[in-house]
Amino acid sequence: MQRLATNRVVIIGAGLAAVYAALKLAPRPVVMISPEPLGTGTSSAWAQGGVAAAMAPTDSAQAHADDTMRAGSGSVLREVAEFVTRSAREHVLDLSDLGTGFDRRADGSFVQSREAAHSAARVVRVKGDQAGAEIMRAMIAELRRTSSVQVVEAAQAVALESDGAQVTGVFLTSIDAPDAQPVLLRGSAHVLATGGSSGLYEQTTNPAHIRGQGIGMAARAGARIADAEFVQFHPTAIDVGEDPTPLATEALRGEGAALIDKTGHRFMADIHPDGELAPRDIVARAVYLHTQSGLRPALDTRAAIGAEIATLFPSVTDACTRNGVNPVSETIPITASAHYHMGGVVTDMTGRSSLAGLWVCGEAACTGLHGANRLASNGLLEALVFARACARDIAEVVPAENTPSVDIRFALGMNNTHEQTVSALRRTMTSHAGVVRERAGLEIALSDIAALEAHHAESEVFLNMTATATLITAAALIREESRGAHYRSDFPETTPGPGQRSILTLSEAMALR
Ligand code: SIN
Repeated sequence: MQRLATNRVVIIGAGLAAVYAALKLAPRPVVMISPEPLGTGTSSAWAQGGVAAAMAPTDSAQAHADDTMRAGSGSVLREVAEFVTRSAREHVLDLSDLGTGFDRRADGSFVQSREAAHSAARVVRVKGDQAGAEIMRAMIAELRRTSSVQVVEAAQAVALESDGAQVTGVFLTSIDAPDAQPVLLRGSAHVLATGGSSGLYEQTTNPAHIRGQGIGMAARAGARIADAEFVQFHPTAIDVGEDPTPLATEALRGEGAALIDKTGHRFMADIHPDGELAPRDIVARAVYLHTQSGLRPALDTRAAIGAEIATLFPSVTDACTRNGVNPVSETIPITASAHYHMGGVVTDMTGRSSLAGLWVCGEAACTGLHGANRLASNGLLEALVFARACARDIAEVVPAENTPSVDIRFALGMNNTHEQTVSALRRTMTSHAGVVRERAGLEIALSDIAALEAHHAESEVFLNMTATATLITAAALIREESRGAHYRSDFPETTPGPGQRSILTLSEAMALR
C-alpha cells in the first residue's frame, strides 16, 4: 500500500462545505478529494431553494433563529441557531462578492423566496431554482484561481486511520476501483465534508453516490454520532421513475402551488393551518400517506404560476418535460423522497469532532442547528458557517507549512460496487426506517443490515453505508416518541418538553442488531 504524508490539510469531499473550507484556509496548502469531476455530483450543486438569511430590513437574525428552533421540534441548540443565523448575512454577501449571481431587484436588494415554516420570505435565490448550481459555479471558479488548493478527482475516501481517539490519515481509492488496494494519505488536519445519507433510501433527491459513507467512515473510526434517526424527507420530489428523484422546490408552494389528491382535493388544508407551507415533516408524511393509500398526490402549479414556471423554475420545468409532464397544463406527480440527514458526526462550534485531528462540516456534521427537522435552506447556510469555523480553528491550532502537492497513484483493481446488495439495503431502509417507523420494522431492518453486511464485509465502501444505516435504525428504535422527521406509528406522540439529543457510537448501535 502506498503511504503518503503531507503538511497539507486534507479535505474529503467537494460540495459547498468542502470548497468553502478550502477557500477560507487559503493560502494554507490543501489537498481536496473529489469523487467526481469538480462541480458535479454534489448535493450542494443540486440545491434549488438557496440560502436562508435575514437580508430584508423587515426581517431579523433573531426571527430566523426562532423559526429554526420551532421547525426543529425542540431539538435545536439555541446557541448554534443564533450563531448561524447571525452570520448568515455576511456569508451571503461573501458569496455575492465571490461572484454568485443572486436574483436582485433594480435597487440591488435581494429577491427572496418564501419557504415552509419561515415567518418571512428569507431565501436568497438564483434564477428561481438554480441557487446551488450557481453558488457552486462561482466557488469552483474561485477555487481554480486559488493556487494553494490541489484537487484530486475520481478519488474517494473509504476509511479513516484512527486509534479511536485521533484521526491520523485517510485511506483513498480510485472511484472506479473502490475495493482495490488503497492509498494512505496522512495530512496535518483532516476535514470531512462528504454530504449526507439520503441515497440509503430508494427515493432520494441526492446524487446517487451520496449514501452515508462519510458518517459511516467517521463512526467506524470511533466518532460520536448525533441525531442519526432524523432523516428529512422532501414532500415534493417528482415521481416519474427517475433515480434519483428530481426535486420540485418548496418555493413553488411559496408561490401558491397546491398539493392535491387524485380527486383534486387540496388535502393540506385538512391537516395543518399553514396548509402547503406547514413544516416539511408534516407535509412529507401527508404526501407519503396519500401515496400509500393510492390517492396519487400531485403538485398543481397551474393556477398560481402557470406558463411562468419555465422562467421562474427552469430546473423543475426541465425535469417535468424530459419525463413527459407539462406543468403548465398538467399536475406534477409527487412522492416523499429522502432529502437531508439532520443527524451526523457530533461537532462543536469550531467544527471539531470527538476525534482529534478530524473536523467535520456540511451535511455530514451534526452541529445541533437542525434538530429533528431542518428549516428549508438552512443546509447551505450551515455548510458555509461551519466550513469557515473549521478553517479558522485549523488555522489557529495546526501549524502551517509550505508543502508541495501530493503525488497520489492508485493501483488498478476490479470495480466491485455490489449494486445488488446496495439495492437490498436501500429497500430495507425504505420499508422499515423511512417516513413512518415502528418497532418490529426497525428490528427487521437491523437484522437485514447485519446480514447484508456479513455478505460484503470485505468492502470498506459498503461497510460505511451499513454503519450509517445501523446508526439511523438503532437511533430510531431507541427514540420511543415521534419528533420532527422521526415518526413512530407505535409512539405517535411527542414527549413534552425539549428533545433529548441521541448520541451513539457505532458499537453502541451495533449492539442492538
Ligand atoms: C427546496 O428548495 O425545496 C429545498 C430547499 C432545502 O431543502 O433547503
